[in-house]
Amino acid sequence: MTTLISGGQVLSTAGASAADVLVDGEIIVAVGAPGTLGPADETIDATGKYVLPGGIDAHTHMEMPFGGTHSVDTFGTGTTAAAWGGTTTIIDFAVQAKGTSLLSTMDKWHEKADGNCAIDYGFHMIVSDVNDSSLKEMQACVDGGVGSFKMFMAYPGVFYSTDGEILLAMQKAREIGATIMMHAENGIAIDQLAAQAFAAGKIDPVQHGLTRPPELEGEATSRAIQLAKVTGAPLYIVHLSASQALAAVAEARNDGQNVFAETCPQYLYLSIEDLAKPDFEGSKYVASPPLREKSHQADLWRGLRTNDLSVVSTDHCPFCFKDQKELGRGDFRAIPNGIPGVEHRMDLLHQGVVAGELTLGRWVETCSTTPARMFGLYPRKGVIAAGSDADVVIYDPAAKQTLSVETHHMNVDYSAYEGLEITGKVETVLSRGRVVVSPSGFSGSTTHGKFLSRDLNQYLN
Ligand code: URP
Ligand code: ZN
Ligand code: ZN
Ligand code: ZN
Repeated sequence: MTTLISGGQVLSTAGASAADVLVDGEIIVAVGAPGTLGPADETIDATGKYVLPGGIDAHTHMEMPFGGTHSVDTFGTGTTAAAWGGTTTIIDFAVQAKGTSLLSTMDKWHEKADGNCAIDYGFHMIVSDVNDSSLKEMQACVDGGVGSFKMFMAYPGVFYSTDGEILLAMQKAREIGATIMMHAENGIAIDQLAAQAFAAGKIDPVQHGLTRPPELEGEATSRAIQLAKVTGAPLYIVHLSASQALAAVAEARNDGQNVFAETCPQYLYLSIEDLAKPDFEGSKYVASPPLREKSHQADLWRGLRTNDLSVVSTDHCPFCFKDQKELGRGDFRAIPNGIPGVEHRMDLLHQGVVAGELTLGRWVETCSTTPARMFGLYPRKGVIAAGSDADVVIYDPAAKQTLSVETHHMNVDYSAYEGLEITGKVETVLSRGRVVVSPSGFSGSTTHGKFLSRDLNQYLN
């Protein structure tokens, strides 16, 4: 079965150009001048629309255990919502529980995800128990297609690793060509500030932000960079939120170090003012690192332009307001950490194009092409080109929509962007050649998505 996508503006990192796209089965077989391809079994008219590579969200948490509960999107609901928003690949974090092995963790994530995803998916590994056998198993993870390992300088007693443990994992990563991803916040200092606030009777959600100052993200980011330098390991800073952390990343990159960073839409659009909303509404915005003062946002947009921020991921980690955020009503420290967003990343970053913050090329690059390259999926994913998977989004740049819990598809009872008006909307989505979203609705299936065994970081190897 062949499909011709005709009349659209095909987007790449270089911008837009008028072209038709021919899909045969699961693969793009030709990209050519308008009117030169086909005929095909089916034609999709993309006149006036963008035709771009499906989004790649390199940071999600489906069904993630946290603080005695778990994030509410399953792989089925979360990947369906992602597809609605023009994302055709997610990379989810498999979470090693202390006392368990990396390989059993990988098996567990396969059990959750395999046969239950609407789009293709891969995994990163969260290492929370650094010991001889975990370090040995890192190679087996790479062999299993999981070549990126997240570690935490935050959450003492849960995911936290000491600097010594981080050093050991970085040495191993260097040896086997893997990437270390870092949650860079000084959790030891933060826990003291949080305990002091609680003892002083300060229990509201805004305290989550006030006790995690941006300096402690900047400090941890610098420390991670120095540890990476000493070990020679490539480093990827996840969910960067603060100007101080961005400055540390920029400096390392200027010095030629293999340091990369992502930010997330919530840090570009939301702020500590949301965390300060009354009646416990602020709990909807509790995530770590926390939402910052608005003054950080201009720096983050600039970082996206200069490539000191290379990737935009969502850190999608949905907890319901009613029965889950509620767990921290008397103590902000017990509010499950995470914000839902897997459905809205492409729209929110397109809004950056509309606002003049990003070019079309940077939109595609930060949301699709670079994550594909960085995480070993390129050129299978991340580009509209002959031979690539037919993961294609047809996007109407002129359509208007309002984000709301009433219309989103994520399995969570609120929207962090309630009422936000967006210019631009996903019209049609193909996942490996199959139309999964169209103007008539969702036509995908949660058995369609395949596990992506990833190569190592193609920027570095
Ligand atoms: O608050 C967040 N970000 N929750 C998800 C876990 C993590 O640290 O990425
Ligand atoms: Zn994190
Ligand atoms: Zn995360
Ligand atoms: Zn619920």
